[in-house]
Amino acid sequence: MAGVANQNILLGVTGGIAAYKSVELARLLLKAGARVRVVMTEAATRFVSPLTFQAVTGSPVRCSLFDEEHEAAMGHIELARWADQMVIAPASADFMARMALGLANDLLTTLCLASASSIAIAPAMNQRMWQHPAVQHNLSLLEERGVRVLGPESGEQACGDTGPGRMLEPADMLAALDSASGAGLFAGKKVLITAGPTHEAIDPVRFIGNRSSGKMGYALARAFRRGGADVLLVSGPVSLPAPPGVNRVNVQTALQMHKAVFENIHSVDIFVGCAAVADYRPENPQQQKIKKLSDRMDISLVRNPDILAEVATLEEGPYTLGFAAETQNLVENARAKLLAKQVDMLAANSVADGMGFESDENTLLVIWPEGEKHLPVQDKQQLAESLLGVLADQYRRDE
Ligand SMILES: Cc1cc2nc3c(=O)[nH]c(=O)nc-3n(C[C@H](O)[C@H](O)[C@H](O)COP(=O)(O)O)c2cc1C
Repeated sequence: MAGVANQNILLGVTGGIAAYKSVELARLLLKAGARVRVVMTEAATRFVSPLTFQAVTGSPVRCSLFDEEHEAAMGHIELARWADQMVIAPASADFMARMALGLANDLLTTLCLASASSIAIAPAMNQRMWQHPAVQHNLSLLEERGVRVLGPESGEQACGDTGPGRMLEPADMLAALDSASGAGLFAGKKVLITAGPTHEAIDPVRFIGNRSSGKMGYALARAFRRGGADVLLVSGPVSLPAPPGVNRVNVQTALQMHKAVFENIHSVDIFVGCAAVADYRPENPQQQKIKKLSDRMDISLVRNPDILAEVATLEEGPYTLGFAAETQNLVENARAKLLAKQVDMLAANSVADGMGFESDENTLLVIWPEGEKHLPVQDKQQLAESLLGVLADQYRRDE
């Protein structure tokens, strides 16, 4: 299915401040050639009048399940059958909870259960609400069931807070829906992602590690999964749950990561080396805890394999995206690394100013042999989605 043109789109609007933006979304969908019908929750009508949507779409807006006129012919089931795609924008925290529970206590939740169409939601709420474990748990449940989640973005909010929870802009949502009309940007592709740090044993209780949190790799795994890919995440020790629908292999050391990657690499279309793999490991890790017997101690280190470079130089290997964390001369070092490792694309970030490793936000300079793109500071999930957009363009050209 190509684009939203000629599709029947059921636009669900729930009770949030961002409801006004959905009027523009309805207009853009119509302009792109879709047929649009709008269903509003009771709370949504407190924010925008049904009349506004009716005027924009030219069709009556439904707000109630118990509508005698429409239900004379089981109108809600007819509407559920009519829809090729459902888009809930904005999706309130309350609506996500009802949907996750499988409630059918108003027209829109009933339609979500009664329709066989794909469903996308565009959450919008205060940043604390968005980060609440209850909301994140509902989000995971919905994603596991195949609901596509668009956004939210990070930024200034109507309530004065700054953070994640802003609904995507209508034009961005339209672009995402257009690409979602097929099974997603990476449908049918197998993606292997490494994430997190590695821990290199000195003795049974001590190790050499680094400050990678794994957040960026996990955000990428989630984004690829949302794009329809079959994702295998080879993860160093982190405290993050596996994103819904993603297969994870846990490792501790660079050698274990190397083994897990090469056991799987031959069936992979895209490889993303996001892990901060230790360059060196102790040559002779001790079997017993080292005692504090002398004033000095030297640990001899040996080089670890370069997983990214090895994958990039495989004959008939996958498309490779590498990451580079630099503390100085970002552009020069990143270009040099792109050439030295022979990767197809490199995402470089500066870790000199508190950005990068442990923070929730980041910025990236993405380079490939013929070009580059700067992705501005944004939260890591949004950044992962932006990076995937850049990668999809280049990957298609190389395919
Ligand atoms: C002024 C105002 C703004 C609100 N904005 C939001 C919001 O942006 N996101 C959200 O999840 N809930 C928001 N709420 C709370 C929802 O409107 C409330 O949870 C409601 O029950 C949602 O119902 P619905 O999911 O059926 O539309 C807001 C409430 C008020 C009074």
